[in-house]
Amino acid sequence: MEQLYPVQKAVADPLSIYDDLDLPAGNQERPFVAVNMVSTVDGKITLNKKERAEPLGSPVDRHLMKRLRVHFDAVLRGAETVRANPFFPGVPDELALRREQAGKEPQPLGIVVSRSLDLPLESQYFTVSPKPVILTAAASDPKRREIASQYARVEIAGEHEVDARQALQILARKYGVRRLLVEGGAALNYSFFKAGLIDTLFWTLAPKLSGFREDLTMIAGPALLVPVPKLRLETLYLHEDELFFRWSVADREQA
Ligand SMILES: NC(=O)c1ccc[n+]([C@@H]2O[C@H](COP(=O)([O-])OP(=O)(O)OC[C@H]3O[C@@H](n4cnc5c(N)ncnc54)[C@H](OP(=O)(O)O)[C@@H]3O)[C@@H](O)[C@H]2O)c1
Repeated sequence: MEQLYPVQKAVADPLSIYDDLDLPAGNQERPFVAVNMVSTVDGKITLNKKERAEPLGSPVDRHLMKRLRVHFDAVLRGAETVRANPFFPGVPDELALRREQAGKEPQPLGIVVSRSLDLPLESQYFTVSPKPVILTAAASDPKRREIASQYARVEIAGEHEVDARQALQILARKYGVRRLLVEGGAALNYSFFKAGLIDTLFWTLAPKLSGFREDLTMIAGPALLVPVPKLRLETLYLHEDELFFRWSVADREQA
């Protein structure tokens, strides 16, 4: 057993903790995939989901969320998350410059997964350049696909649902995505964890409680993930009662 706190190594700038990450790149079959989430101590990723009340994480967490994006070619979100927050998950100007200096596009590619294609197409999320990508299933409504294709590049990746593995192959081969950041929510995370396609998990534990049974947890699907994914702690930082974990997923490719 190890005592992680108060064993201390001071970090001068809390916003810099992920600046020097050296994440592996994926390949033609699939990108390296990370998830970034924040939850309360009782494990909830929403606070009063119905009314979308208040942010969970601190300002430091929200800054780190943007700083993490610097390392990734694309940011993937579930449709419900985009409906709840219809804003492009990009980076501010100074980080866009840092991306360009590292040979990347100034902004990550926005990607949303949706079967219904009931998306806020007139929102800011869909006004950016390059156009976001919508990943959908063949069973989606062709008329809605046609309308959506005026706002985004629409890709079919699966019959009835979006198949995570097919989706990653399309992103790798057609869009050159080598590092993908998944930013939730619970249902989308489930699809990717179930397929054994998550390599690393960035998780902020916010010093708050929800208590509301209808609030969501980080991964929510119809059955237990089997085999149960095992996580290995990579780093842990503490800042003003908030904990910032990075775990790697030990058992990959378990579909
Ligand atoms: N605390 C955090 O870190 C954090 C992070 C992200 C989100 N959130 C919150 O989480 C909530 C949303 O989570 P959620 O679980 O309800 O929804 P979600 O995962 O964001 O989106 C679910 C929707 O995505 C589409 N989808 C997901 N997997 C799919 C698949 N395999 N095939 C086809 N479509 C698929 C479906 O869209 P259609 O319905 O369009 O078919 C589904 O209804 C929001 O309140 C958001 O603010 C919190």
